[in-house]
Amino acid sequence: MKTRITELFGIQHPIIQGGMHYVGFAELAAAVSNAGGLGTITGLTQKTAADLANEIARCRDMTDKPFAVNLTFLPSLNTPDYPGYIKAIIDGGVKYVETAGRSPEQYMPLLKDAGIKVIHKCTSVRHALKAQSIGCDAVSVDGFECGGHPGEDDIPNMILLPRAADELEIPFVASGGMADGRSLVAAMALGAEGMNMGTRFIATQEAPVHENVKQAIVAASELDTRLVMRPLRNTERVLNNAAVERIIEKEKRLGADLQFKDIIDEVAGVYPRIMKEGEMEIGAWSCGMVAGLIHDIPTCQQLLDRIMGEADALIRQRLNSML
Ligand SMILES: Cc1cc2nc3c(=O)[nH]c(=O)nc-3n(C[C@H](O)[C@H](O)[C@H](O)COP(=O)(O)O)c2cc1C
Repeated sequence: MKTRITELFGIQHPIIQGGMHYVGFAELAAAVSNAGGLGTITGLTQKTAADLANEIARCRDMTDKPFAVNLTFLPSLNTPDYPGYIKAIIDGGVKYVETAGRSPEQYMPLLKDAGIKVIHKCTSVRHALKAQSIGCDAVSVDGFECGGHPGEDDIPNMILLPRAADELEIPFVASGGMADGRSLVAAMALGAEGMNMGTRFIATQEAPVHENVKQAIVAASELDTRLVMRPLRNTERVLNNAAVERIIEKEKRLGADLQFKDIIDEVAGVYPRIMKEGEMEIGAWSCGMVAGLIHDIPTCQQLLDRIMGEADALIRQRLNSML
């Protein structure tokens, strides 16, 4: 399959693994890239720019295919060393960056001068247009279904993707709710030129997370995610568990008075214990509704081959036969 996304990133299949905190280590990024997609190292999971440089080098040892680094711009008191991370990316010879969170505008000159292609993840058409106007090469359009931060507009991909197609000139991938060949073909029909997956890639052999995390995704249905932190305008879609129920109870009880400090125990710094130690009930962790479509733990190669095979059959047989 050849699209503006496969051409832009020099990849075989139009499938991207989105940055994921404490999941997007070199092992997963390399496995996705080796399978013909675009793997992504999550920049901020690395504590320092030197750690990121080391992670990029580790990834390079595991693949000679292109891979990306995710830079998430968070509202935070202690701003991470973004210039240092960008230097590590440039020095490490990485040619692709996935930005997310706030607008990457401030860092675009640094990235562009180094010849880096930027794909910005956004949850609304207006943010996608802004990304286009500041020189992003592509966008990843994240619908309301997505695991992680769906924004505050709540527009699912069935509407958001064709709206993006109507407005954008740069290519975009569909993100949120994508799992299989059906997702890919549907995304293409709605105007995307590829797809980005998060949750689906956690339930793979190579994802360097605790087995409990993978099993939790396989066991979950599409009914099992919840939205937390909406009162703080920092909405996150997470898998339901005891900690999430505590957050929701506090959100109901405190209403507009809720402050970050009220839920800090359930959301701050919980990822290492969940993803590495498999302590599934201690905090909130991002997970998409797409968990309802995930029933196995394949290798990345098996997953991508299966998706492309399904997409081929869908287009050539099912859809073609309807004409
Ligand atoms: C556990 C987890 C952690 C994530 N962490 C990040 C992150 O640090 N930065 C980011 O830009 N997106 C992050 N995401 C969002 C994904 O990159 C992707 O956009 C999203 O998962 C797509 O929705 P899906 O899960 O339905 O495929 C995360 C998602 C998950 C499931």
